[in-house]
Amino acid sequence: MTYNDQYELALHQPEAFWDAEAARLPWFKAPQKIISQDEHGIARWFADGEMNTCYMALDHHVQNGRADQVAIYYDSPVTDQKRAITYQQLLEDTALFAGVLRNQGVEKGDTVVIYMPMIPEALVAMLAVARLGAIHSVVFGGFAPHELAVRIDDVRPKVVVSASCGIEIAKVIPYKPLLDEALAQANYPAQRCIIFQRPEQTAALQEPRDIDWQQAMTKAEPVGCTPVSGTDPLYVLYTSGTTGKPKGVQRDNGGHAVALNFAMRAVYDMKPGEVFWAASDIGWVVGHSFILYAPLIAGCSTVLYEGKPVRTPDASAFWRVCAEYRVKALFAAPTAFRAIKKEDPNAEGLRHHDLSALTYIFVAGERLDPPTYDWISEKTGKPVIDHWWQTETGWPVCANLMGIEPKPTKAGSATFPVPGYQVAVLDEAGQPVPTGEQGAIALRLPLPPGCLATLWQDHERYQRGYLETYPGYYLTGDGGYCDADGYVFIMGRIDDVINVAGHRLSTGEMEEIIAAHPAVAECAVIGMPDDLKGQKPLGLVVLKDGADITEAELERVLVEHMRHNIGAVACFHHALQVARLPKTRSGKILRKLLRQIAAGEAYTVPSTIDDPACLPEIQQALVNRCLLEPADLP
Ligand code: COA
Ligand code: AMP
Repeated sequence: MTYNDQYELALHQPEAFWDAEAARLPWFKAPQKIISQDEHGIARWFADGEMNTCYMALDHHVQNGRADQVAIYYDSPVTDQKRAITYQQLLEDTALFAGVLRNQGVEKGDTVVIYMPMIPEALVAMLAVARLGAIHSVVFGGFAPHELAVRIDDVRPKVVVSASCGIEIAKVIPYKPLLDEALAQANYPAQRCIIFQRPEQTAALQEPRDIDWQQAMTKAEPVGCTPVSGTDPLYVLYTSGTTGKPKGVQRDNGGHAVALNFAMRAVYDMKPGEVFWAASDIGWVVGHSFILYAPLIAGCSTVLYEGKPVRTPDASAFWRVCAEYRVKALFAAPTAFRAIKKEDPNAEGLRHHDLSALTYIFVAGERLDPPTYDWISEKTGKPVIDHWWQTETGWPVCANLMGIEPKPTKAGSATFPVPGYQVAVLDEAGQPVPTGEQGAIALRLPLPPGCLATLWQDHERYQRGYLETYPGYYLTGDGGYCDADGYVFIMGRIDDVINVAGHRLSTGEMEEIIAAHPAVAECAVIGMPDDLKGQKPLGLVVLKDGADITEAELERVLVEHMRHNIGAVACFHHALQVARLPKTRSGKILRKLLRQIAAGEAYTVPSTIDDPACLPEIQQALVNRCLLEPADLP
């Protein structure tokens, strides 16, 4: 079937389309209700099906001839380790670790927080939670204790699973003190922590709360899979919203498995037995979907890479990994390629590696700027596929579908909507804009399987944040346009979310941290363009009258607070003191205008502005700090 045929079928006969996709998976009881409505009137998929995601990812393959196939290639240049773990071994470890969790009282519907570096045990922990029908919430290892504590308080886990340390290039980062601090800050600290001890730095355990992973495994018995319904949650993954409180995206088991299995075939053209590598982190949705669940559900081998694109040890690392494991499809963020390009502009590192197996390079997580697209295409000679999606959707919304019908690519475009999604570009009144004009990107309801149906224990926020703006649509938070050929171009966020090195962060949260400083009267944090990381945050701070602190000292303190509260990944390095912020007469800070100024873009002074004289002052402050070239001034 062509792309158009599949798209039309999913649009006009969604039940038949997704029923056929569901039938490709091993359910305990096949769903009869393909789509139904929950108590909030939200469309839910496969509500009466019975299944277990871990069963689909492991047991089923072991029982059907894949026991000796490699499930995970673990490659860790930072510890100089490589391991090839078969489906059989992974199943044994997972079943045993599920026994460890069961011994700590974890049952169906309970929550478990996982705060771990990129080691196979992190995947074992996720699968073991799924095996028990429980719900995991993985917290990115680069987040600071405060972020971990906020998530612990929201999800209230029975158990936290962690490791003694992570390794960032050559730096050993002890995780246990971070976990201890988070538990001390939390109002609902978990009663049990299971800690995987790494030889690079072991952790002191606090009995009886802390349990040694390795010892607990010797005392546990393997357990089987607990059946869950298609709509029982598999996980909660927090993502940045516009306020300091992250949003707990809740993902169902059934729709997730069906959508990921479809995506592996339709978008990524992957067949069972082939090798897929998503160079991300298990703390992000890319890691959940495409390091762990999708490759395993589809019977592929996945690569778990504990390293960076550069400096572990050099800019040829990606090519080495692709060659060594005969990766068919690589998926990485544009930032990773910009980092490689910066260190190895001529891609000399490519020459020493056999990339004959590498068929596609998929890119997502942030906008793929045309120069980066051109560089990757030219140097590798491989198809470079930009595709767009987000934590909330869990799988690609727009893509060039390599497994259905590859279309010519256009730099800067994520190509077409994936079958199942109806993408619309709307104006402020919720009306579709003419072709070629920019607007808010929205998805017509119902969303296909795999997308969030609610936020963890906060349905009202889901309704308000995503569904209320344009009735009948889900608001993505991105802006963009469609061209005359129907290609979708995503241009960036239209809310207070920024994307730093493919990491989604909230400027609202950063503003809350700055505003807590006693010298600060008000502030704004905006994303400014960055050659390597796409965007970086910039703080603009107005001091209280009489506050006695230099710009340098305030900046030092705020940078420290940001690292301590969010983590080094925030990359917050600049806080400029300004006399005033541009506001409307009703007092609303004109953030879009600030973004344009910081990007050196031309702007129109809005008629609603209260005090236009502050604009040149802000420009001058940026020039003084070398954040803007005088030549860039519009
Ligand atoms: N645990 C602890 N700290 C972490 C961390 C983790 N998992 N990940 C990042 N950090 C820290 C880094 O050590 C660094 O700390 P520092 O300021 O003390 O040096 C800081 O956070 C910023 O890290 P990073 O964004 O990785 O910047 P970098 O300059 O070290 O590396 C790149 C630049 C481009 C190589 C890196 O950003 C990268 O690999 N980006 C791609 C990320 C990606 O795949 N995103 C996709 C998600 S879908
Ligand atoms: P996350 O939820 O962390 O995966 O971040 C999702 C956000 O990243 C989206 O809402 C977009 O703003 C951005 N994004 C992801 N992929 C792309 C892409 N291919 N092009 C442009 N922006 C993207």
